[in-house]
Amino acid sequence: MKKIALTGIKPTGIPHLGNLLGAIKPALKLSEKYDARYFIADYHALNSIKDPEILTEYTMEVAAAWLACGLDPEKVLFYRQSDIPEVFELSTMLMCFAAKGRMNGAHAYKAAVAANLEKKKDADKGINMGLFTYPVLMAADILLFDADKVPVGPDQLQHLEITAEIARAVNFNYKKELLKIPAPLTTDKTLNVYGTDGRKMSKSYNNTIPLFAPAKKLRKKIMRIVTNSQSVEAPKDPENCNIFALYRLFAAPEEQEELAARYRKGGMGWGYAKEELFRVLDRELSPYRERYCKLMQDKKQITAALEQGAVRAGKIAARKLDYLRRAAGFAK
Ligand code: ADP
Ligand code: TRP
Repeated sequence: MKKIALTGIKPTGIPHLGNLLGAIKPALKLSEKYDARYFIADYHALNSIKDPEILTEYTMEVAAAWLACGLDPEKVLFYRQSDIPEVFELSTMLMCFAAKGRMNGAHAYKAAVAANLEKKKDADKGINMGLFTYPVLMAADILLFDADKVPVGPDQLQHLEITAEIARAVNFNYKKELLKIPAPLTTDKTLNVYGTDGRKMSKSYNNTIPLFAPAKKLRKKIMRIVTNSQSVEAPKDPENCNIFALYRLFAAPEEQEELAARYRKGGMGWGYAKEELFRVLDRELSPYRERYCKLMQDKKQITAALEQGAVRAGKIAARKLDYLRRAAGFAK
């Protein structure tokens, strides 16, 4: 029996290059060896997205993105969190085992409180219970599906510690291994995709290169990458350059050597390096872009994949929840 890998994808906009290399590709690679269960965490997004049309649109976009990047819904259990009501029942059960004091220290909540205090506002101003109990819902996502490994970025490690603590509290209380203790699987820490301003690429810095932008727009984004004011004649250092850092991630070794040599020799302007980067990026991204546009033009394929996933995931969830209900004394 294969081990289970599970992760949640928050629908908060079209993924960027950093997400592709830091999350999507590694998760798809992992699915070759694991029984993979990847879902769209739309109830987690409700904390911040209260507009129903935007929430639906983001969900479709992120589902299309993963499908376009190669997720095969026949191989990966791919579903929407909101289609699995068992998650929310388990979340309520887990609330009774989750230490409130631990939630006070959960990083997203703590950061929101700190921001309020900084502005001399009431500590809890604008903070909803969804944010406060976010880690418990996440624990329910994970524990309901018996995940062994949870691939996540470093910012989610605390949530996984909390998940393990809650699971242990449940198992201890019922004197039975009802819940599997999951382990995080952090993605390659050395991989840091840089954005157009040289900082880590992130939606919150507004420096991203979107995955499915039309070629013209992609080129424009690349042309805006910040560079220094070295003259065309000046020899340049590829090791210390935003453009080359991105180029390296997509170019073949010979291409990298060739461009690095042009940098060092001098006589190459930044415009040339940017065109080269555009060429390799467009080569990589155009098949994804094509698939993405097709999926978004006719959303039936996306909905069908998610519906089929919901049926399969629903069966697993119902069985597990039934087992937990009995253990807790809710049996009829
Ligand atoms: P953002 O910072 O744009 O909001 P997220 O926090 O939603 O991105 O990231 C989702 C996943 O993508 C995480 O697993 C994270 O490690 C990965 N990721 C995001 N940005 C980068 C980046 N610049 N380089 C490498 N991985 C990244
Ligand atoms: N909290 C995760 C994030 O912000 C998304 C998420 C929700 C998740 N439920 C999960 C990740 C369960 C892993 C497992 O990115």
